[in-house]
Parts: sequence; structure tokens; C-alpha cells
Amino acid sequence: MTKVATAVAHPNIALIKYWGKRDAAQQLPATGSLSLTLDIAPTTTTVELDEAAKADYGTLNGEDLSGKELSRVSKFLDHVRERAGSTTYTKVTTVNEIPTGAGLASSASGFAALALAAAKAYGLDYSPEQLSALARRGSGSACRSIFGGLVEWLPGDDDASSHAVALPSTDLELSLVVAVLSAGRKKIDSRAAMQTTVETSPFFPAWVEQVPKDIEEMKQHIAAADFSAVGLLAECNAMAMHASALAARPPVRYWNSDSVAALDLVATLREEGLECYATMDAGPNVKILCRPSDAEKIAERFRNEFGGINVLISGSGPAAYLVENTAS
Ligand code: DP6
Repeated sequence: MTKVATAVAHPNIALIKYWGKRDAAQQLPATGSLSLTLDIAPTTTTVELDEAAKADYGTLNGEDLSGKELSRVSKFLDHVRERAGSTTYTKVTTVNEIPTGAGLASSASGFAALALAAAKAYGLDYSPEQLSALARRGSGSACRSIFGGLVEWLPGDDDASSHAVALPSTDLELSLVVAVLSAGRKKIDSRAAMQTTVETSPFFPAWVEQVPKDIEEMKQHIAAADFSAVGLLAECNAMAMHASALAARPPVRYWNSDSVAALDLVATLREEGLECYATMDAGPNVKILCRPSDAEKIAERFRNEFGGINVLISGSGPAAYLVENTAS
């Protein structure tokens, strides 16, 4: 008997960042966060139960899963098996349409797709909120990729209550321009970096105090479809996250000189009247929030200034979904 399911999930970019955990074992965040699910760079994952297998195995973009990657996937699947009362291992086939580990949130789309496909293949009948809490166990930000559009991760009190929800729809239209300044693997993985920040940064308590206020303010700006206020607050929040990381001991610095040049260009474009705002995650790439009608012009400026780099344009993307190949 084969049980197989395929799911697709998209990355998300936080407008109010998740940075720091209050419980690492259960992946409970220190604060809530708020994000936009993208419509580019999806992950497609197939989970196929294999009664004969002695361990989980699989591929990522055609290469065998091994080492840390395989053990993280397998540890996640252990959660699924525990909930499903199963001891069967699986084959996991994943295709990521973006460079893995380049700060373009492949772990978010990856674990959201894996959670959805694995829940289906193992016969768990879960609501989107339960799927979101499950995806969180793989990677915190993955809980937000279960939903489409603008999404809030409620920090919750325990495993079941720490999940994302979709925000009410609004007239706000956002595009995100992703300037791929560096597509290599990141030097400091976000999990270790946020732990160093939590344990050593004198600015971390200030960050934890600020984020809930930023979330409330952001939700008001979103409801009012106030693009300028949304963009400015997203940029302020991203800079505050990096400030807390930079103050860690040793410092966690994701920026390189191109990142700073890209932040300069965002400021210049704004001065020229092309309104846009910057955000950055656990890598050197800069993502630019703008109105959809300005996205192509902004992308062109970035391509010109940075010698023909890859620049992606994204709008608001869908919730994670199953592809109908499921047989049992
Ligand atoms: C900077 O979700 O990758 O992108 O929970 O340890 O897997 P783990 O971390 P992860 O961290 C994402 C951090 C961020 C900000 C964000 O997406 O909110």
C-alpha cells in the first residue's frame, strides 16, 4: 500500500520580524510576527510512505538529502508519526525554485509544504491552524506560509496555540522586489544567530518589548490600506531586528557592503519620489516593498546599479495547497 501526497507552499517575508524564541524545544517564539506570503519561488514536496524503508530518505533539487538537512526533516517527520501513531518511514522529494539558504526563506516554504504533504500522507485530518502549528515545529517562519496574503503568527501559550492566521482582507496592494545580491549559502544560520541574540544581546529585551506594539500598529496601517505607513514601519522593524543581532556577542552581522549600497539606493529612490521601503532577513539580500505599479521601475534600477543581478518581483501569494496525486 502506498500513501503519497504532494503539496506546494510559497515563501513569506516578514514585515514585523520573528527573531528569538522563548522555548527552543517547542519552537515557541519570543513575540508574534506578521508577514506577506509571496507568489514566487514555491517549494513542491512529495511525501511517499515506504513500508520497507529503515529510515527517512529523499532528495532536495535532485540531490540526495543528507547530514543536517536530512536529520532536520526526519526529526520533523517524527512529530508527524507520533501524532499519527505510525512508525513508517518515508521518501521526501523536494523541489525549491529558489537558491536554498540564500535568505529567501526556503525553510519557510519547505516546512510548510512538508507539513501539508506529510499530514495528508500519514492521514492526519488537520485544520489550517493545526497545520500551521505543525509546520512551526520544522521552522518557525513556516507556520506563516500555510496561509496566503498578509498573515499574523500568534505567539500563543503552548504548542497548539502558537500558529498563524490570515489577516482580514484589505485594499492594500503590495509588491516585493527581491534584489539577489548573494545567492550563496548564508554564513550564520538563523537558528543559531537568534539564539546568540537571545542569550547575549543587551538590546534583545528592548526588541521583545517593541514587537507587540509594532504588530498592533502594523495591523492598523494594513486595515487603513496606508502603504506609506506600512512600508516605513516594516523598514523600522527590520532595522531594529538587525540592531538587536548586531549587538549580540559575538556580533551577528548579515549585511555586506552591497546590502548597505542597496539600502542607500532605496533611500535615493524615495527621495526621487519612487516610494519604496527596505527589509532584510538572515542574509545580505535586500527586499524592497513597493506599490505594484512601481515594481518594474524599481527592479530595473537595481539591475542597472548592481551589474545585472537577478531581481525578482513578487505579489501577494496563495495559501499552501495539495496537488491531487494522492493515492492510498
Ligand atoms: C529573519 O523561521 O528560519 O527570516 O524557527 O529557527 O527555523 P527557525 O528560524 P526561521 O527564522 C526566520 C527569521 C527571519 C525573520 C522572519 O521570517 O520573521
